[in-house]
Amino acid sequence: MKFLLPATLLIAALPSFAQDIAALTADTKKTVLPVVPKVVNAMQDAVASKEVAGAIPVCREQAPELIKEKRQETGWDIRRVSLKTRNAERGTPDLWEARQLADFNIRAANGEKIDSLEKTKS
Ligand code: HEM
Repeated sequence: MKFLLPATLLIAALPSFAQDIAALTADTKKTVLPVVPKVVNAMQDAVASKEVAGAIPVCREQAPELIKEKRQETGWDIRRVSLKTRNAERGTPDLWEARQLADFNIRAANGEKIDSLEKTKS
């Protein structure tokens, strides 16, 4: 009978875990997504007025600054990383992040729309 207890606890914990993930996902979208159009607009303006090289300061200074503000506001660990890292010092994904980005590439190659790709499960 003793061994049943951990399994029962785990099963009882699952719905609240799923709820936590759903709540965290919604919270993340609400809190962090508004930063994206700010960066995209700044980048488009910079490219329009100063050509492609004009976008470098947007990606190197402005975007990290906006992310820093969000980090301070939320206390969350928010980073910008990529699989084709330009700045290895601050843009290199860790193992989990690299796996998620690779998974996004696979999903996009299989026809999912890239503008709605998101990681929702652990
Ligand atoms: C003309 C367009 C662009 C230029 C010239 C550009 C340039 C750069 C540069 C120079 C860095 C390194 C910054 C540093 O020293 O930390 C960087 C980083 C980054 N950029 Fe951009 N970028 C452009 C567009 C974009 C777009 C459209 C996105 C995504 C929507 C993007 C996402 C990122 C991310 C996530 C990083 C951090 C990871 C890394 O260092 O690779 N960039 N970009």
